[in-house]
Amino acid sequence: MHDDIEEILLTEQQITAGIDAVAKQVTDAYRGVEFTVVSVLKGSCIFASDLIRRIPVPLELAFVSASSYGDGTTSGDLEMNFFPAEGEIRGKHLLLVDDILDTGKTLSRLKAELTKRGAAQVKSCVFLDKPARRAVEYNADFRAFEVDDLFVVGYGLDFAGRYRNLPFVGSLKKEAYAGVVDG
Ligand code: XMP
Repeated sequence: MHDDIEEILLTEQQITAGIDAVAKQVTDAYRGVEFTVVSVLKGSCIFASDLIRRIPVPLELAFVSASSYGDGTTSGDLEMNFFPAEGEIRGKHLLLVDDILDTGKTLSRLKAELTKRGAAQVKSCVFLDKPARRAVEYNADFRAFEVDDLFVVGYGLDFAGRYRNLPFVGSLKKEAYAGVVDG
């Protein structure tokens, strides 16, 4: 699996330092406010679990999955599943945690949907931000790293379901794409 990586863009040490820093920002922002961290499945699971262990204030944990339909420009074509229960949304301060903010469609539509379902506040914290790819107006409230417009894998991020378990973030060799596409 490591042989498929073209270049390591973030080492484990760099990731640790970035998460320490963003966790401090989140902690300072939510001091005295009860909130729920909502991990966006599946890619954010590793980031979310490392992040929350560095936030020493009370919080709850929930999960959301989102699937898009159509061109993805409205919240109406979003199928959202919230775990453990819809009742966890109304009146709550939610912090959406995602692996990467790319076009911005997923998080902006999740925010619209959760607001519609009665959340008191919806903010977001992303592991990676790729501002060059933004297609809708959306900025994360917190982010650990900004990355260039490259397809990246590792630390939760996948290509065709693989590479999530790499402890670093890297770009893929062309052969790795071809191998999966060609079967
Ligand atoms: P949007 O475009 O809605 O989408 O901000 C965010 C989702 O797109 C996926 N994504 C990537 N996944 N490497 C990945 O493994 C990437 O470089 C990448 N760019 C976008 C990802 O599922 C993310 O949650």
